[in-house]
Amino acid sequence: MQLDQNATRENWGSKLGFILAAAGSAIGLGNIWRFPYVLGENGGFAFLLIYIICVIVVGLPIMGAEMVIGRGSRRNPFGAFKALLPGSMWWVVGAIGILTGFLILSYYNVVAGWTLYYLFQSVTGGISELTNGEIASSTFNGFVTNGGLVVLFQFIFTFLGIFVVSQGVKGGIERYSKILMPTLFILLVLLIGRSVTLPGSMDGLKFLFTPDFSKLNGDVILEAMGQAFYSLSLGMGVMITYGSYLDRKTNIFSSTATVASLDAGIAVLAGIAIFPAVFAMGMDPADGAGLTYQVLPMVFAQLPMANVLSTLFFLLLTIAAITSAISLLEVMVSFATDELKWTRSRATIIMAAVAFVLGVPSALSFGAWADVTVFGLGFFDLVDYLTANIMLPLGGILIAIFAGWAWGNGVKKEMLEGSGQEKLYKVWLWAVRILAPIAVGLILVFNFV
Ligand code: PHE
Repeated sequence: MQLDQNATRENWGSKLGFILAAAGSAIGLGNIWRFPYVLGENGGFAFLLIYIICVIVVGLPIMGAEMVIGRGSRRNPFGAFKALLPGSMWWVVGAIGILTGFLILSYYNVVAGWTLYYLFQSVTGGISELTNGEIASSTFNGFVTNGGLVVLFQFIFTFLGIFVVSQGVKGGIERYSKILMPTLFILLVLLIGRSVTLPGSMDGLKFLFTPDFSKLNGDVILEAMGQAFYSLSLGMGVMITYGSYLDRKTNIFSSTATVASLDAGIAVLAGIAIFPAVFAMGMDPADGAGLTYQVLPMVFAQLPMANVLSTLFFLLLTIAAITSAISLLEVMVSFATDELKWTRSRATIIMAAVAFVLGVPSALSFGAWADVTVFGLGFFDLVDYLTANIMLPLGGILIAIFAGWAWGNGVKKEMLEGSGQEKLYKVWLWAVRILAPIAVGLILVFNFV
């Protein structure tokens, strides 16, 4: 179906620009902060394996579905479903996606704020004092329980997001992704070089790569699937939004394969950078959300040029966070500019402000609000668990069903546009119709019923 296309809608400047922006969204705190600590809590290799299977079996087809929905409609997630199937209720999926985006961005800004704080500490020389586990942990805890300071850095990070997104798709998101993503890669490789040459680092690599299936259970499988959705930025409409700026010459099959492999590759590389250090420092891999922030500064503190190394690392983490946060913000901004006809700058500021306010309880949930728990989880952990393990997978199932069953004939034409690969299309269609919804559905049902 050819729609009344909005002639003024922006497009990506180049295919590479699009790939780097999409990979920039996928590669984020999820890879460098979340992946190592969730893997550490879930026993290592078995988690890694299930995660990779989920990326291939579920992630690839759903990412294709999102991009094709975006390109076919040239709309934000809410408007996309409305445009492709007018009169149906499918817009609800887009609306829930936008809501999920707000929730993720709300606490994402908080963790990104921690990162900025550590970057600031590195530049000003404070890191070299974190010489042992006790000091590193108490410094981390002292910081995250200081609500005012956490909110301040959350605010500064929110501002960075506004700065990039207000400059538009090509002039903002694409321009910065093209500079930041290669920088991130170089920094990560440098860090690995340092980490794997630490004495005692082999234990870390063993933890990561030695098969041990005794730890495998339903929880581990759910966490690994949630991590796959989270890490690939799937299930809430980022890839619909980024797809909506795509031209018709781009091959969606090869684009999804490139973005997903870059994302999973960087997650594994982050594991290779972090676990050798965890073991070399005698820390516990199951230490939870503070893992990265406690372990790495200690490693740096024991090396010459501690502040330079840690500045590089926290710069890497900040870069990863920015290119993901802007993709979340862009979902809301595209909604507001398409549907509410707001200007880009107005939309950016208002949406970012809403996400900031929503994030304050998460910012306080290690300090002043530590006692407020729901289902035994603090606010921060609750939002993280709910979005990654429930809302994104549910959104993913619905998006797959829409593309595979509900959309109708339009999907084939759109998917072959730019690729022409009929055979691949058949495999993809089978995956979004059957494989992905059943796999995700089973994992959810087994865990919650
Ligand atoms: N993929 C991002 C990361 O790994 C997080 C994210 C999730 C971004 C969902 C957008 C949507 O950090």
